[in-house]
Amino acid sequence: MTAPLRASDPIIVNVALGTRSYDIVIGRGVLASLGARIAVLRPGARAAIITDATVARHYLSAAQAALGEIGNAAPVIVPPGEGSKSFTVFEWVCEALIDARIERGDLVVALGGGVVGDLAGFAAAVVRRGLDYVQVPTTLLAQVDSSVGGKTAIDSRHGKNLIGAFHQPVLVVADTALLDTLPPREFRAGYAEVAKYGLIGDAAFFAWLEANWQDVFSGGPAREHAIAVSCRAKALTVSRDERETGERALLNLGHTFGHAFEAAAGFSDRLLHGEAISLGMVCAFAFSARRGLVPATEAEVVRRHLAAVGLPTHLSEVAGGLPDADCLMELIAQDKKVKRGKLTFILARAIGGAFIAPDVDAAEVHSFLVEKLAEQC
Ligand SMILES: NC(=O)c1ccc[n+]([C@@H]2O[C@H](COP(=O)([O-])OP(=O)(O)OC[C@H]3O[C@@H](n4cnc5c(N)ncnc54)[C@H](O)[C@@H]3O)[C@@H](O)[C@H]2O)c1
Ligand SMILES: [Zn+2]
Repeated sequence: MTAPLRASDPIIVNVALGTRSYDIVIGRGVLASLGARIAVLRPGARAAIITDATVARHYLSAAQAALGEIGNAAPVIVPPGEGSKSFTVFEWVCEALIDARIERGDLVVALGGGVVGDLAGFAAAVVRRGLDYVQVPTTLLAQVDSSVGGKTAIDSRHGKNLIGAFHQPVLVVADTALLDTLPPREFRAGYAEVAKYGLIGDAAFFAWLEANWQDVFSGGPAREHAIAVSCRAKALTVSRDERETGERALLNLGHTFGHAFEAAAGFSDRLLHGEAISLGMVCAFAFSARRGLVPATEAEVVRRHLAAVGLPTHLSEVAGGLPDADCLMELIAQDKKVKRGKLTFILARAIGGAFIAPDVDAAEVHSFLVEKLAEQC
């Protein structure tokens, strides 16, 4: 772990993927350098911005100014929210890019959170059989997670992210000042993914977060540091296992439990993704403790930190409540294949010591959930 850099120094994290390697540029104010960076990467290319209406209100003109002449294509503005990861909006976005005369050799700029990043990335993957794209993530979740790694997708009526492609961006520009306008609840939800990197493989980072999280929230240099450490962890994992045949699965810590809670709450404002992941990580550590893998005191350290930043850590905190353990198990089984009553979970032997456990007994998870649902905060 390195010491936080001065606020004025952009931090560059490289995602090493051979000829498809790219940089993540992190810093306050780096949006202004977008056009210059694109001009170096793709001289002569034009760029079309895809964004949502909320982000457009805050940052479209700044992004257009940063692109200058290369950004003269009409911006493609979709409604905010998960609903835009639909076939209908996707079709409209693809046609709009063609209308804007974006050719092979030109670029798409995804200016927004994970919704815009996933949608624009997938459009870039297929329009004219593949266009390069740049991620300009504007939520904390997008800056530390969804803009890096090349997973792009829209949703099916059968479930989230079922239609998509692996398509790596050619550049990620993460301007941490853009997070100043993010609603606090969205910032907190994204923070769950930051804490996740500490819990997976970096105990020192988790300890640093425990001491410095307030500065990460308030936007000082600690914010850049936390985002850079998170991006480094994701970049390393993605470069070793781009298509998730092994190690990349560790990034799903808290996500098997979390997805079930999210689905049970109807993917609604009742429980944001990061909030579900906070509950999921608490469950992954509590379940690891129940199996004797990790001391219960360490699982409690995890829960206490997430609670300190204001994330939910008890299932009873979910607005409107959760269904019973049978129903949650059904949702887990839909999300993950159950092989002869066994499930794969990401469990932990310590903070920073997550591992893939392919042999978890479904019945054991069920009784654990019964206990967790009975707990009050
Ligand atoms: N591709 C991946 O690897 C990956 C990983 C994790 C999540 N995801 C996807 O990411 C999506 C969630 O992303 P998200 O949490 O960023 O949600 P989001 O994109 O819906 O953004 C959340 C809300 O914040 C608003 N917003 C965005 N930036 C803002 C800013 N700077 N100031 C004010 N408001 C702002 C948006 O308009 C939206 O209303 C999900 O669809 C999920 O499936 C993808
Ligand atoms: Zn997540």
